Amino acid sequence: MPLLFRKVKELRNHLKGLKCDRDKPVSVGLVPTMGYLHEGHKALIRESLLQNDITVVSIYVNPTQFGPNEDYQRYPRDLQRDMAICEDLGVDVVFAPTDEEMYPLGFSTEVYVKGLSEVLEGKFRPGHFKGVTTIVLKLINVVSPDRLYMGEKDYQQLKIVERMVKDLLLPVEVVPVKTVREPDGLACSSRNVYLSEEERKSALSIYKSFLLAQELINKGIKDAKTLRQKMEEFIRSFPLVRKIDYIAFTDKDLNPKIEVEKGDRILVALWVGNTRLVDNWEVS
Ligand code: PAJ
Repeated sequence: MPLLFRKVKELRNHLKGLKCDRDKPVSVGLVPTMGYLHEGHKALIRESLLQNDITVVSIYVNPTQFGPNEDYQRYPRDLQRDMAICEDLGVDVVFAPTDEEMYPLGFSTEVYVKGLSEVLEGKFRPGHFKGVTTIVLKLINVVSPDRLYMGEKDYQQLKIVERMVKDLLLPVEVVPVKTVREPDGLACSSRNVYLSEEERKSALSIYKSFLLAQELINKGIKDAKTLRQKMEEFIRSFPLVRKIDYIAFTDKDLNPKIEVEKGDRILVALWVGNTRLVDNWEVS
């Protein structure tokens, strides 16, 4: 079993001990998660295990990144199951702190990446990215990792964390990991457990709309407006898609694009029933 820590001080002491005990420098990889681990998380963890002497997986459902009407209460949690997955993979340390530990009484300091946090997801989830950057910075401060593993599944989050690391001169390398999908193409997500069998079929509209867009691009259609129209029409043909928050075309740094080209991103957020799904696609 990996060692499980719930307290910042104890984890820090343990990591300090590991670093002192060895005559060579010890590299540490941090994989921040909210738990209920799936194949996407596992890909991040495997990458960290390959590249570092020690891998720390944090499991913490961070309250400050959820809006008042979001799914914080019902977000799936199962530490025992997550510990077993971490054991299978060979993870060294799991950090699963309490709220009191991460947000001490009187907590009043936040970190916020201007601009990038306000577009796309930021428009629909105000305050979300402030919660993300604040907790990720705190986790980096606790673990002092050499490398930080983030999934491309949450592309905007990845870009915002990269910006924060650069701006604040944090001594950590952000390692992006490609999106892991179910065999049928649905991006793995802890929130997929919310979907009924029928809803899951409509959830596939996102991946299939990426394939459609890619096909059109391959045929020479590069105009974002036309591509958006085609994707929207296609997605709306799925009965349980309730609302499309956005279909966006950007370059790799999230600047909007009018003409789409290789290396650009297509980002989608939509609702299937009561479940909000986000995904993105790199244009090839
Ligand atoms: P969570 O949704 O648990 O995701 C943890 C990490 O796994 C993130 O970097 C996310 O992008 C990555 N991930 C999720 N699904 C993936 C998939 N299908 N393929 C590849 N990577 C995937 O994202 C968060 O938690 C939180 O915001 C967090 C960064 C932990 C801060 O609280």
